[in-house]
Amino acid sequence: MPALRRYTLPDRLLIACEDALGAVFGRPHAEREYPGTGHPEATLDEAQRRHAAGLMRINHTGEVCAQALYLGQAAVARDPATVAHLRHAAQEETDHLAWCTQRLEELDDRPSLLNPLWYAGSFAIGALAGIRGDGYNLGFVVETERQVEAHLDEHLETLPPGDARSRAVLRVMKDDEARHADDAEAAGARRLPFPIPAAMRLTSGLMKAVAYRI
Ligand SMILES: [Fe+2]
Ligand SMILES: [Fe+2]
Repeated sequence: MPALRRYTLPDRLLIACEDALGAVFGRPHAEREYPGTGHPEATLDEAQRRHAAGLMRINHTGEVCAQALYLGQAAVARDPATVAHLRHAAQEETDHLAWCTQRLEELDDRPSLLNPLWYAGSFAIGALAGIRGDGYNLGFVVETERQVEAHLDEHLETLPPGDARSRAVLRVMKDDEARHADDAEAAGARRLPFPIPAAMRLTSGLMKAVAYRI
């Protein structure tokens, strides 16, 4: 994708719509190999399968939100280097999205029906964070990735013991998210003021409770 500085506001809006449709309804394509490859499919009873699928649906929705947050931030960022950084990060999250999609299919289940809603909300939050300037933009990335890292730890503990394929996906995602946070910190992230981190935790808690089921 060429640098966004050459685009007008209507261009940016069209690009944002195209990104949204791709993230919510498209078939994401991973550039790296699926981490579950080589791990045997688990024999799960119906309750275990539903639980594993519920957790992977949360993670899938989380990745839809990650796309929206990064692209929302990129849509309003003024510095071309920041735009490029954010769009590159969104590209990396596409691997996670593709892997979660594949794992949900393997578990014979579907993504959250509310993903268009989560995408729209996350895009708006990303854009709001973005207009505060680059330091807060990066601070928002750090806070998001650290919260995702913590929740992936929780999922790694509560997945059915035999579900090695889901676990392999989440382990690679957790390493990536930690790196994303480190990169943003190194690039000059500012610490987000109270009550933003708490509000983010509250919002993601709501998303998790809903996406587990719907
Ligand atoms: Fe991710
Ligand atoms: Fe990430």
